[in-house]
Amino acid sequence: MPKITFVNADGTRRTVVARDGQSVMSAAVENGIEAIVAECGGACACGTCHCFIDEGWADRLAAPQSLEQEMIECLLNPAVSSRLSCQIRMCDELDGLVVHLPEAQY
Ligand code: FES
Repeated sequence: MPKITFVNADGTRRTVVARDGQSVMSAAVENGIEAIVAECGGACACGTCHCFIDEGWADRLAAPQSLEQEMIECLLNPAVSSRLSCQIRMCDELDGLVVHLPEAQY
C-alpha cells in the first residue's frame, strides 16, 4: 500500500499508509493530519485541503482538472506546487509521495 509523507510547516514529518485509490486528503484526515481540514469532504468546493507537492514529485502527478485549478486560484497562498489533496488518488506509482502542508487553511 502506498505511503505518503506529510511535512508540516514547522518541518516535522509524518508518514502514513494510504489505500489504493484513496485520496491524499482522506488518508490525511483518517490519520489525524490536522493541517488538512477538508470542510467539503472532498467535493473540490472548499480549498481547505490545500497542500504543496514536493518538487521531486511534481511531474509524476497528472495535472489538475479545471475545477481544481479554479479553486487553487481562489486560495490566499497558492504556489506553483499547490494542489487540492482531495483530488489526488493514491496508487502504487505514488508510493513515497511527499506533501508539504500550509501553516493554515484559509
Ligand atoms: S476537501 Fe474541499 S476542496 Fe478538497
